[in-house]
Amino acid sequence: MKVDLNGKTALVTGAARGIGKAIADMLADNGARVAYTDIVEEGARQGAAARAGCVARRLDVTSAADIGAAVQWVRATFGGLDILINNAGVNTMKHRVTLDQFPQEEWDWIVNTDMTGCYRVTKAFVPLLFARGGGRIVNIASVFGLVPARLQCAFVAAKAGVVNLTKAMAMEFAERGVLVNAIAPGSIPIEGPQGLFTGNNPIMKARMEAMLSHIPLHRFGKVTDIANAALFLVAPENEYMTGAVVTVDGGWTAGYSRDF
Ligand SMILES: NC(=O)c1ccc[n+]([C@@H]2O[C@H](COP(=O)([O-])OP(=O)(O)OC[C@H]3O[C@@H](n4cnc5c(N)ncnc54)[C@H](O)[C@@H]3O)[C@@H](O)[C@H]2O)c1
Repeated sequence: MKVDLNGKTALVTGAARGIGKAIADMLADNGARVAYTDIVEEGARQGAAARAGCVARRLDVTSAADIGAAVQWVRATFGGLDILINNAGVNTMKHRVTLDQFPQEEWDWIVNTDMTGCYRVTKAFVPLLFARGGGRIVNIASVFGLVPARLQCAFVAAKAGVVNLTKAMAMEFAERGVLVNAIAPGSIPIEGPQGLFTGNNPIMKARMEAMLSHIPLHRFGKVTDIANAALFLVAPENEYMTGAVVTVDGGWTAGYSRDF
């Protein structure tokens, strides 16, 4: 898909790899100047270095100091901001346990990053969008924010929070010309723990097959599937979608993909 983002500036959180990097690359390839930000600065730098006009900086979405410094930096570097992508997110692979066993520190880390991070970063950057007379925000939620899975209480709660935060922001920012939408990805294998699915471990292979059996399109998603949806949401052609949660999940949450 091609849209014209020439003259637009964008900031993506969690852009060092995975979905965030794919979105940042997609926006840059369609003409935007993109600020790649991540808690892992080196990854963000590598991404930005490969695209003309793009820049990078460390931005931990749980750090007030990092967020404040990044706002000043964006003002100085771009002179303003049109597009904000709240993508940074974490989940636990280690503590897949029921809520009564779920460690408080793991809860705090996930909720602070995935939900509170979205609130904090938006609060800090949205005045720049207001100053432009409008803009676009895309929050990366999850299908588990719509239909929870077992053994991930913090993640499902945080992502459900992102879903409703998106709708609240859409209502509150509409009169300022800022359209706010969420994308709920299904399962998108990335470098990292989910890469285990693609190895030879028989337990992981069985889990992968079980998961695929629920997905009508019978494949996992690609990072570009998510980036294409984000591109549409931030495009000038999107003038009337706000407060929407776009599932990009191969049909996973369309219904029970089972014959009874
Ligand atoms: N991959 C999937 O299957 C999937 C499914 C549903 C939702 N998501 C969501 O998509 C988003 C991107 O995930 P991904 O799959 O690309 O994972 P990923 O782990 O590859 O990327 C996440 C990025 O966020 C960064 N990050 C972590 N903590 C941060 C912090 N405090 N501040 C700033 N950056 C931080 C990481 O360094 C990393 O670069 C997340 O919000 C995730 O919850 C992913």
